[in-house]
Amino acid sequence: MNYRHAFHAGGFADVVKHLILTRLIEYLKLKPAAFRVIDTHAGIGRYDLTGDEAARSPEWRDGIARLLERPLPEAAAALAKPYLDVVRGENPGGGLTIYPGSPLLARKLLRAQDRLFAIELQPEDAAALGQVFAGDIQTRVIALDGWLALGAQLPPKEKRGLVLVDPPFEVEGEFERLVEGLVKAHKRFPAGVYALWYPLKDRRERDAFLGALVATGIAKMLRIEVTVRPPATPPLLFGTGMIVVNPPFTLEAELKQLLPPLASVLADASRGGWRMEWIRGE
Ligand SMILES: C[S@@+](CC[C@H](N)C(=O)[O-])C[C@H]1O[C@@H](n2cnc3c(N)ncnc32)[C@H](O)[C@@H]1O
Repeated sequence: MNYRHAFHAGGFADVVKHLILTRLIEYLKLKPAAFRVIDTHAGIGRYDLTGDEAARSPEWRDGIARLLERPLPEAAAALAKPYLDVVRGENPGGGLTIYPGSPLLARKLLRAQDRLFAIELQPEDAAALGQVFAGDIQTRVIALDGWLALGAQLPPKEKRGLVLVDPPFEVEGEFERLVEGLVKAHKRFPAGVYALWYPLKDRRERDAFLGALVATGIAKMLRIEVTVRPPATPPLLFGTGMIVVNPPFTLEAELKQLLPPLASVLADASRGGWRMEWIRGE
């Protein structure tokens, strides 16, 4: 496995995924009780957009850079603010040279009572992530297989939590592992909020994945997709998807404000779109 998220950091898929992540965290913060964020495929946390990998494949130019350049309508801008504040905070001189990955974004939004568990399998990436959070008593970086963590780390002792599962989809069977992982995790922690990322590349694979999710019988699953170009043959990434299990009741209304302008900012020449639907309700 040689997946390097630095090639994709700040790209359109990260932007949509991270915006949803921040809305989920902001909702959890409405109650004073502590919660835990568990990021099972955490990456390195902080990406240098001037580094070799990001410079060779500047996906961030069509992702976060566009969002910073083009103002969103007022209601959407208010919802995007926590996310964009963290991005701007990482780039204090203005400009855009650093992109915060999911664990750093999550951590920046936590309160003193909340915790972050960030899991990364690649030893060098886990070490880099450990550096980002060195000395931080609210964060634990664990060099482990994230799929195992879905069993071992659940339920969190706070009994409130958000689990982000963001695998690289570079090896066969990742969709199946995502479904099996959710079933295992949901048995241990049915009240948890789960955010499962998936690529829109091959529609048949995506449809089989959605069918397998429905067959689990798990209730309250919201499907969110943003496309930036039409599907192509051979398959190429044309959009980004997220399944949110047990979404906050506010999420759907928020995303109705956010997704339309977001899809038009991120799409190639207005060829994008978005959709949101319950794949299983109550
Ligand atoms: C898509 S990237 C994560 C990006 C990160 N969640 C973010 O949004 O900033 C996937 C990460 O999972 C790591 N990885 C791959 N297989 C893993 C596994 N079985 N357990 C934990 N991490 C894994 C990869 O090394 C990579 O850093």
